Amino acid sequence: MSGHEFQSFFPESGSIDHTDTSTAITETTLTELRQIAARYPHKRSALLPMLHLVQSVDGRVSPAGIQACAEVLEITAAQVSGVATFYTMYRRRPAGKHHVGVCTTALCAVMGGDYLLETVSQKLGIEPGEVTPDGTISLERLECNAACDFAPVMMVNWEFMDNMTPDKADQLLDDLASGRVVKSTRGATLTSWREAERVLAGFPDGRADEGPGAGEASLLGLRVAAERGWKAPEAPHTEAISDGKEATQ
Ligand code: FES
Repeated sequence: MSGHEFQSFFPESGSIDHTDTSTAITETTLTELRQIAARYPHKRSALLPMLHLVQSVDGRVSPAGIQACAEVLEITAAQVSGVATFYTMYRRRPAGKHHVGVCTTALCAVMGGDYLLETVSQKLGIEPGEVTPDGTISLERLECNAACDFAPVMMVNWEFMDNMTPDKADQLLDDLASGRVVKSTRGATLTSWREAERVLAGFPDGRADEGPGAGEASLLGLRVAAERGWKAPEAPHTEAISDGKEATQ
């Protein structure tokens, strides 16, 4: 092919790594997988949090984890794999102790996201999709995190780091590498990626209410509207819908 070649920005996409059969799943894990399944009227609805629990134990979606989910939910391993390989939050390869993402979608890119990713990549000596040799940090290029009002944003273990600059990123990576306590800009104290995955599986660690609920940039429009008495117009068909009738407008 001459000229440009297509380059995937989703190095994690693809199939599960069946060559790595290692697992740390125990009888306790299976019990917890069953507990998650029991929370739903239709137990197969539990698959997403169950996969997060697998990641918290094995550091990735492991073949053993897929099999365990399939058995608990009484579906096929292929069905579990189909879900696990569809969403980018599920990893086919082990993450580092801390999983760092840099958003490079439009607004973050305009605000310096691409440069940020490049500097982070250079400092760590790894490309997106890779893990540092000591296993401390894995790096990922992220799509929009719905935090555009804080662009450019990074995430560490799914927690936001807002309004980032190369200097702030440099400090952040040093802090993570040296084990210093790091707080996300709008959320909890950072723990580890695996611990965050356990929370996503539905086992709270008590940190959900640390930090502000919403940042200043997100609240600004609300405050301006309140000061000026702006209100959203009434929806003309609200009554019809609440009466259970078909809306006419
Ligand atoms: S573009 Fe980065 S959070 Fe939306």
